[in-house]
Amino acid sequence: MAVVTLKINDRDLAVEAGATVLEAAQAAGIHIPTMCHLEGITDVGACRLCLVAIAGIPKLLPACVTQVSEGMKVLTHTPEIEEFRRMTVEMLFAEGNHICSVCVANGNCELQDMAIEVGMDHTRFFYQFPQREVDVSHDRFGIDRNRCIFCTRCVRVCDEIEGAHVWDMAGRGSQSKIIAGLDQPWGEVSACTSCGKCVDACPTGAIFRKGSTVAEMQRDRAKLEFIVNARKNQEWTR
Ligand code: SF4
Ligand code: SF4
Ligand code: FES
Repeated sequence: MAVVTLKINDRDLAVEAGATVLEAAQAAGIHIPTMCHLEGITDVGACRLCLVAIAGIPKLLPACVTQVSEGMKVLTHTPEIEEFRRMTVEMLFAEGNHICSVCVANGNCELQDMAIEVGMDHTRFFYQFPQREVDVSHDRFGIDRNRCIFCTRCVRVCDEIEGAHVWDMAGRGSQSKIIAGLDQPWGEVSACTSCGKCVDACPTGAIFRKGSTVAEMQRDRAKLEFIVNARKNQEWTR
């Protein structure tokens, strides 16, 4: 096993070559905020919340998709990075309709937790008030695209773990949206097995179980981790 040495903040670390900066930090107990990252599925660097500063590189890089290299010097929490993270969260709130007081995920929402973590108490951006489609055609689940932050966790979980590939991203810029099948009502997509993995993966109240009301949505993230590791650990029940 080839090993790479690097420094993250004031810590000297040795990690396996090919690891990402995020993996190196997590192994050392150094916290880097993440949103689109989900253990067990491919990283895509969509949310930019895990940006870090690397000596000699003029721009900030996402830790989840940046591989470690020998002698790398990484800073995870400079004033510039913290301001950038706060601004990113403010933009996420301004781009959607995140009315926490009436959201099924209130109190169980990773976006809400992130706002607290980065110290956001208001947004400096104009609210866009998008009017995106709400789809409750599925027997058990619904999607309110107004709460979507385009992390694509649902897309990747359904594709890589369930193997159903129900979800995709369509459109560009402000017209971007998550679509089911060929932009069909979710309930009409025969590939959906109703496994609920996308429900557990969604960080906000965008994908929800029908019948949940304000603050009632609980996610079972441990289920996804169990499924991802079941084969490796030869554990088939939990
Ligand atoms: S319920 Fe399962 S199969 Fe259906 S869209 Fe969600 S992850 Fe895919
Ligand atoms: S529906 Fe949820 S999981 Fe899917 S992209 Fe939007 S926020 Fe992410
Ligand atoms: S967690 Fe790295 S870009 Fe989203």
